[in-house]
Amino acid sequence: MKIPILDLRPEVELLWEDLNRAVQEVLRSGRFVLGPNVEAFEEEVAAYMGVKHAIGMNSGTDALVIALRAAGIGPGDEVITTPFTFYATAEAVSLVGGTPVFVDIDEESFNIDPGLAANAVTSRTKALLPVHLYGRAAEMDPLLELAKKHGLKVIEDTAQAFGGEYKGKKLGTLGDAGCFSFYPTKNLGAYGDAGMLITNNDQLAEAARMLRVHGAKETYFNEIIGYNSRLDEFQAAILRVKLPYLDEWNKKRRLLAQRYNRLLAGIPGVITPAEGVSGHVYHQYTIRITGGKRDRIKQALAEAGIGSMIYYPVPLHRLPVYKDRAPSLPVAERLAGEVLSLPVWPGLPEEGPELVARVIKEALQN
Ligand SMILES: Cc1ncc(COP(=O)(O)O)c(C=O)c1O
Repeated sequence: MKIPILDLRPEVELLWEDLNRAVQEVLRSGRFVLGPNVEAFEEEVAAYMGVKHAIGMNSGTDALVIALRAAGIGPGDEVITTPFTFYATAEAVSLVGGTPVFVDIDEESFNIDPGLAANAVTSRTKALLPVHLYGRAAEMDPLLELAKKHGLKVIEDTAQAFGGEYKGKKLGTLGDAGCFSFYPTKNLGAYGDAGMLITNNDQLAEAARMLRVHGAKETYFNEIIGYNSRLDEFQAAILRVKLPYLDEWNKKRRLLAQRYNRLLAGIPGVITPAEGVSGHVYHQYTIRITGGKRDRIKQALAEAGIGSMIYYPVPLHRLPVYKDRAPSLPVAERLAGEVLSLPVWPGLPEEGPELVARVIKEALQN
């Protein structure tokens, strides 16, 4: 049996009729960009999140860029963030002319260490950009306190955490803005590129709405330099079909994570994610394999037909583009050599976790 790291086909089969109807309705409507489906999807997400504004965009990357711009971040401004994330997090800061300041992560949560973030604040710091990596909330209370103390904006990179929570509050609603990606592999994925910004701040929302359409409130009366970051009707229609299933799918991910944790418990050299983290939506189920054996285990899984991924093999401060940004961030550097994400998608075959665990156990014994 082959177990890919993710297979979207079962989900498409499950929703086939609704997806077909939705796509055909868009085709017949003659409206393809920023139409009624985008508006309805924005309202549905705003209601789901309990926020005033949800603004559909082209991608999660664009949502980050536009959130930073709308929050007034620009050239010369420092933004404190994590090096243990997808490149787009820091790239967005650089794209608006700011400087990403990388601080090390907490070993247990894989997320930014709030104490180290506090030490990194300078007179040029304008914002914090925490990432809820793998679907687990960053430690938001101390970050929000830090932001309040220094008058910093907080932009949440919620790309991997749609539906996740921190102390009962939806991720993306705690800071000034939350930025989602609907890249197909995400917990709520479109069938192409798509993204969204959410906020309770009217001014920020107005600026973001302008920025997504070339800096204009009214077409052809452009006021500022913006972007073309409109969400299209096909993606919005598909996302509307999928949104009602999201909580159920996230619950399945949590149950799979619990099963993996039980199956992998006590294997020497394997560190499983912490138990009982409420609000975690397991975009990834990521274990650590110590002792320099990670790549060997990945290979053994591949030989058994099981997909796994390394998110991420190079912390951002070690990429050539940012190599002068941070002297040494030992936790991120070590974990980059240990992490391994295992298949955790909602339609995973029933016997999947047992098979994966058996291969890992056997490979570690050899
Ligand atoms: C943490 C994180 N930030 C930002 C992004 C960028 O989103 P997108 O690919 O939709 O531009 C992604 C996903 O790709 C991500 O995982």
